[in-house]
Amino acid sequence: MNTDLDRLQPYPFEKLADLKAGVEPPAGRDHIALSIGEPKHAAPGFIRDQLIAHLHNLSVYPRTRGLVNLRETVAEWLEQRFRLPEGSLDPERQVLPVAGTREALFAFAQAVVDRSCDPLVLMPNPFYQIYEGAALLAGAEPVYLPCGPATGFIPNFDAVDPRTWERCQLLYVCSPGNPAGAVLDSATLERVITLAQQHDFVIAADECYSEIYFDEGAPPVGLLQTAATMGLTDFRRCVVFHSLSKRSNVPGMRSGFVAGDANLIEDFFHYRTYHGCAMPLQHQYASIAAWSDEGHVVENRRLYREKLAAMIEILDGALPVSRPEAGFYLWPATPVPDTEFARGLFAAENVTVLPGRFLSREVHGEDPGANRVRIAVVPPLDECVDAAHRIRRYVKSL
Ligand SMILES: Cc1ncc(COP(=O)(O)O)c(C=O)c1O
Repeated sequence: MNTDLDRLQPYPFEKLADLKAGVEPPAGRDHIALSIGEPKHAAPGFIRDQLIAHLHNLSVYPRTRGLVNLRETVAEWLEQRFRLPEGSLDPERQVLPVAGTREALFAFAQAVVDRSCDPLVLMPNPFYQIYEGAALLAGAEPVYLPCGPATGFIPNFDAVDPRTWERCQLLYVCSPGNPAGAVLDSATLERVITLAQQHDFVIAADECYSEIYFDEGAPPVGLLQTAATMGLTDFRRCVVFHSLSKRSNVPGMRSGFVAGDANLIEDFFHYRTYHGCAMPLQHQYASIAAWSDEGHVVENRRLYREKLAAMIEILDGALPVSRPEAGFYLWPATPVPDTEFARGLFAAENVTVLPGRFLSREVHGEDPGANRVRIAVVPPLDECVDAAHRIRRYVKSL
């Protein structure tokens, strides 16, 4: 077997299941899961209708490159959303559909990393665990960039030494971030783009939470947007990853895209013809409909705004919570160690949250996930309110 498989960590939810094993939550109180970031708002009917209307395509092998209409729709969406100059993305050469960003974020490292020259892959810490697994299975060493309160929950790229940048082949950034919801501003993205050109590494920008923000007039900036304003019109060394899962509440559709540097996209396309996860045609048609409509996304944001406000009001004074810049997670510090907090909350109130250390790694004795929990504000409003009251009661009992 591939010995790198032994280097993979158990997934956070496996660790969570072990943590909860043997604990009996109180009978008669429904379970509320705030642990998984799985959107629960209803999938829009018009997306489902398109999916059903194109089911006859089940008898067709989809192509890796995807429908030209889908790539054109995505290029237009990117241009509008990130204020790119018209025609700045060539749908033929700079956009590829993917079967969800999870798959693509993993596969991308396999295509990018040259394992012959002692490669490093840099990533935020805490992080979406796929980045780490992708680095390890690509034969690279992961390097974890701490994201704690001291740096506003984003990496301090200037604290990375030049030797590390020299060996860096791929940098994952996640903005808005999971779990803290912090957004990389354009100055930080500019810095990262400059470093990438200087040290010849690729930036994989996971922007799958980019549409979950709260000020309709101030959406988070993106990597391609920043590259364009810097005059880097070929987006060299820059690739973004976007998803319909959070934006359109269709995580089951497994639909996203990558876009950016044409040379990287071409090599990734080559890789993907073997990887073999072309998006089913009916999903491509449904995706065209989803990327063409903003109304349902505005409503989606309204629901998250409402739920976050309600939970924060109830938790105020019990846990240090504030509205994230974007995304749908709360990431408070806990009064007792995070694992103890999560286990105790489950035992006392039948509410599940995710211990922060299951999303992070300890480096030089510091673990930026320790003593925090991730609370996914995904259930319906009444459940979120109920959960917040139960969390409050639990905290008060400590
Ligand atoms: C930071 C981050 N990136 C990527 C994904 C994957 O999303 P999908 O594969 O549904 O596009 C998730 C899902 O939770 C995530 O939190």
